[in-house]
Amino acid sequence: MMKLNVNGRSMDVDVPAETPLLWTLRDELGMVGTKFGCGAGLCGSCTVHMDGNAIRSCITPISATAGKRVTTIERMEADPLGAAVQAAWTSLNVPQCGYCQSGQIMSAVALLKRNPNPSDTDIDDAMSGNICRCGTYTRIRAAIKQVATQRRSKA
Ligand code: FES
Ligand code: FES
Repeated sequence: MMKLNVNGRSMDVDVPAETPLLWTLRDELGMVGTKFGCGAGLCGSCTVHMDGNAIRSCITPISATAGKRVTTIERMEADPLGAAVQAAWTSLNVPQCGYCQSGQIMSAVALLKRNPNPSDTDIDDAMSGNICRCGTYTRIRAAIKQVATQRRSKA
């Protein structure tokens, strides 16, 4: 039995220690907002937060989450910054097929939490591990900038 803290809830999950976090979220907990893409840490579609940092859940064994807080896309609506990012994604019509977008949003929120005013280079560095086969990169960058601008005007 492994202990897991997801979205503020502690729980026990009956999986082997080496089970990827992604499978635990999707198959054991039914949290299917986090997507499987490559399964090899290369595409970013499975991105979640561990103690606020963006990580690839497909290559993170459940044992590596011991004592850490895992946050998924399902929690973003309740997080002020997560909600602001989702609103910007909607207002700028960022998604196309949508498959990569929960991972994109998780990387964007992690970036904006540590850097409220990212430059183009900061955005490229933070988002380069998140692949979008539909090529929504320009709108992703615009949405991140929109959130940064809105938050500056409220500060
Ligand atoms: S599914 Fe995890 S990085 Fe591609
Ligand atoms: S919106 Fe289709 S892969 Fe990104």
